[in-house]
Amino acid sequence: MTTEKTNQPKKYKTRAFIDQKPGTSGLRKKVTQFQQVGYLENFVQAVFNTISPCQGKKLVLGGDGRYFNREAIQVIIRMAVANGFSHILVGQGGILSTPAASCVIRKNQACGGIILSASHNPGGPDEDFGIKFNAENGGPAPEKLTDAIFEETLSIENYLKFDSADIELDQLATIQLDQCQIDIIDPVSDYADLMESMFDFDAMKALVSSGDFRLCFDAMHAVNGPYAKEIIENRLGAPKGTVINSIPLTDFGGGHPDPNLVHAHELVDLLYGDDPLDFGAASDGDGDRNMVLGKNFFINPCDSLALLTANAHLIPAYADGIAGVARSMPTSRAVDRVAKAMNIPCYETPTGWKFFGNLLDAGKITLCGEESFGTGSSHVREKDGLWAVLFWLNLIAVKKQPVSEIVMNHWAQYGRDYFTRHDYEAVDSAAAKDMISQLKAKIPTLAGQVIAGATIESADDFEYIDPVDNSKTTAQGVRIYLTNGGRIVFRLSGTGTQGATLRVYLDTYQQNPELLAQETQQALSELITVAEAVAGIKSFTGREKPDVIT
Ligand code: G6P
Ligand code: ZN
Repeated sequence: MTTEKTNQPKKYKTRAFIDQKPGTSGLRKKVTQFQQVGYLENFVQAVFNTISPCQGKKLVLGGDGRYFNREAIQVIIRMAVANGFSHILVGQGGILSTPAASCVIRKNQACGGIILSASHNPGGPDEDFGIKFNAENGGPAPEKLTDAIFEETLSIENYLKFDSADIELDQLATIQLDQCQIDIIDPVSDYADLMESMFDFDAMKALVSSGDFRLCFDAMHAVNGPYAKEIIENRLGAPKGTVINSIPLTDFGGGHPDPNLVHAHELVDLLYGDDPLDFGAASDGDGDRNMVLGKNFFINPCDSLALLTANAHLIPAYADGIAGVARSMPTSRAVDRVAKAMNIPCYETPTGWKFFGNLLDAGKITLCGEESFGTGSSHVREKDGLWAVLFWLNLIAVKKQPVSEIVMNHWAQYGRDYFTRHDYEAVDSAAAKDMISQLKAKIPTLAGQVIAGATIESADDFEYIDPVDNSKTTAQGVRIYLTNGGRIVFRLSGTGTQGATLRVYLDTYQQNPELLAQETQQALSELITVAEAVAGIKSFTGREKPDVIT
């Protein structure tokens, strides 16, 4: 153990920034904004003031390794020491995936953790950085906490920072700094042990080492590389090289670490190429999102949630049944059908993982998910990319069927909810807001109207009352239901850092066995026309087509 003796914590004068309101998932800005003098410090001090007293408490700290991660870790350690924490657990190299951070907070009964990530947004000197506080349950701070943190940022005048040399982050060690014990911990082992306790690793080992089942995990040069190597290659025995792009890079290799068909093209080529693999998966910058592919087959995240729910009893961790499920509002209603058949509750929440926290803590749900490539369960309080991939591998090991067959059998039983999301990125903020407000103004008169040949059944602006604490969240997106079963949702993203991102979510239900294998955009083409007719997307955004379709 190395010990460093104290000067007194230093109090630094600062001036408030007015733009530190956390979005869907923490505070996300360009790196250059975070590099402004006092910017990071103000936000961190606001977090500490909000959860104070910090004396005697334990804090978890880590990030996805993106540009500015290490510098920020050093600053936050010194501030945590100066604010009186008695114990800090830091992932080696400053690394912790978001689900691993959640796992470490819970396992060590910390008062919370600070996670540095801008998730799936690109990294690098001119790209994005982010910071969020997770509470003692391991989950993202609920709205009332993020609101309180924001209030603090507006009036902050000082922050505390201990004056010391940089901490060595790369060796596992225990360091004493003033009253505080800093443990540099293995970022992978607790998480890997948790996964091993949940799934049937023997059956999965037999599958991935059989030689008949070829798979690839694309870590996209992001945080899950070391986690996937340890679990998929070392513990499950998949061939070396199964995990590609496995070394976390500060700029994610110049890529966009978002696991979807557009950005994970290297993986997509392996699953749709000449000699396609049987299974492919990818996760995002901080390891909480996932995409799962079969041979020439894409599993929509909404379907993934429905399938995991329907098959949970096949997984050791859920063999005794599940309490209920939840999905974010824009996520398709595929899981609702499964929940109904299983006679378990299904909750519809606003976009953002934080809304699942209360339901999970209260034991009302076991599984939850979002269309934005997030699935998770009560094992942690974050969505969990690798967990979802292991769930699928466990399922395949038990069912002994190709991915496509598992999914098509599911559709044959429950019907299929065709789903797509159209994103219009970096559009003019004023124009996007204008479009949404004009749409909202139309809501009271939409029901009964026939637009582009479709009859509107109902429309509203989604609001949510949390069944656990009765807190109310309003203005979460415009929902338009059609009499033919279709649904269109319009909302503005809460995670972008440039202009506004308009998201249009479209889904429709199909039960006819002859019509279960259509191309998604084709199946939704009429709905797409209705969306344009009702909202005037092209004229407001000036765009002819979406930038990204998932
Ligand atoms: C993050 C959050 C998710 C959310 C997603 C999309 O990944 O953790 O809960 O669904 O962003 O949010 P957005 O506001 O950009 O649609
Ligand atoms: Zn993420």
